[in-house]
Amino acid sequence: MSLTPHLFVVVGATGDLFSRKLLPAIRSLVADQDSQVVVLGVATGDLNDESFRATSRLDLEAAGATGPDTDKWCDDFLHYEQIPKEGDYSALADRIEEIEREHGLSGNRVFYLALPPSVFPIAIERLGEAGLAQSPGWTRLVIEKPFGRELESARELNSVVHRHFDESQVYRIDHYLGKETVQNLLVFRFTNPIFEASWNRDRVERVEITVAESLGVGERGGYYDRAGALRDMIQNHLTQLLTLVAMETPVTFAADAIRDEKVKVLRSIRGINPDDVVLGQYGEGRIGTELIGAYRDAADVAADSDTATFAAIRLDLDSWRWQGVPFFLRTGKAMKERTTQIAVTFRRPPICLIHGKSDGCIEHSDVLHLTLQPDEGFSLEIEVKEPGDSGRLRTIPLHFSYSEAFGDIPEAYETLLADVVEGDQTLFVRSDEVEEAWRLYTPIVETPFGPHPYPAGSWGPEAARDLLGPDVTNWATAPQ
Ligand code: NDP
Ligand code: BG6
Repeated sequence: MSLTPHLFVVVGATGDLFSRKLLPAIRSLVADQDSQVVVLGVATGDLNDESFRATSRLDLEAAGATGPDTDKWCDDFLHYEQIPKEGDYSALADRIEEIEREHGLSGNRVFYLALPPSVFPIAIERLGEAGLAQSPGWTRLVIEKPFGRELESARELNSVVHRHFDESQVYRIDHYLGKETVQNLLVFRFTNPIFEASWNRDRVERVEITVAESLGVGERGGYYDRAGALRDMIQNHLTQLLTLVAMETPVTFAADAIRDEKVKVLRSIRGINPDDVVLGQYGEGRIGTELIGAYRDAADVAADSDTATFAAIRLDLDSWRWQGVPFFLRTGKAMKERTTQIAVTFRRPPICLIHGKSDGCIEHSDVLHLTLQPDEGFSLEIEVKEPGDSGRLRTIPLHFSYSEAFGDIPEAYETLLADVVEGDQTLFVRSDEVEEAWRLYTPIVETPFGPHPYPAGSWGPEAARDLLGPDVTNWATAPQ
């Protein structure tokens, strides 16, 4: 696919996200085509085109993109403009016009805010005041997560955005939506009626969504200590996954039809009972052979920090389809393994013909495991009879692997950037979605919970298992 020619302005182009994710994604998107995609990096640091190109070459090298073509691309298509921390963006507006003239661009512009979240409001105000919300072509605004710290700040940020930009110009990123396996959730559900027919309270006993990370906070302690697992992961990535699992069939596959259904899911979720929340914080421990220091000893983390690095929550949906089916969300840093999984546990047979008992003779429920990363794929665990006359049953997985079927799959940021340029908002979070998610979580992010300690390299605090209820012995996703 050839990208529409445009100027891609990254505000915050000296940061971690740009160097590790955005730049390699842009480079990969334009690598095999002649399209005129010009990148203007913007930040407050004192760089120029030359020094920005030099650091970008190193970033691309670190990401595995090297060679004379890449160096030439940096020289031909990368620019840098220094902007003031608080002051106006009129010099930026002039520079944009100059670069567009130089490259023969017709005024299509993306503004990507890869900024500390506290800077989003001022940057949007300054773009608007400088007349940069409109252009001779199209103008699109991409905003990174987290979008607000709770409902009130999310609403304020939305009102700043809408003061200058129309919602049709706005792309709120949740990079999980760009993952191939996450997009496939919709295809899996809505093009395979065999599953959709069972996707309801009559057939499903419970749903679990686990995003376990095996790394600690690394160098991001300053940001993370103010965010914690609820703001960093639950309110956005895990909740987005939940909406895709629980939504009704959209009338079409168009952006707003899908987003309308996702919002309805959020509206159907009952207020969270604090007893249904377990938070944790990792202490020292081992992941494999590597010794991981305690969260409180990480750089830029307060020595007495109570920030949760783990969260598990039970949610109940008051909807026709899901009444009585609990949904469990669980995420943590410094856990035993990196895995993102959704497990849909189906109800057992109502009577047990095979063993002649009336109930409970089949200990294992059928479970559908959707593995979003790594080892992308799914497996459906079903019961089969062991050969012979023992009468024993065995659980067998029916397995599908992305890598076996398709080889490599694209990076989430590549997919999302291409969608921004194509003007497709399906994989981006609408203003009402983000506010509904905050409506749900604001009471608990504002309640002080003492996190349970857990050792790095474990599956989180033991107390999380109790959330599943007395009849469930363990998580179907990554058992403890
Ligand atoms: P960094 O702190 O590494 O980078 C922030 C960037 O913003 C720098 O280029 C900084 O440069 C610039 N900046 C800071 N203040 C201003 C200002 N007032 N005006 C203009 N530029 C400014 O952050 P990250 O790159 O890690 O994160 C950026 C965004 O992406 C955040 O919202 C984060 O939550 C989100 N994100 C990041 C991920 C990651 O893996 N890093 C993953 C998912 C989301 P300078 O100080 O020179 O101006
Ligand atoms: C980011 C969070 O949004 O997602 C990080 O800020 C987290 O804390 C990351 O590590 C996880 O993303 P992925 O794609 O590696 O699962």
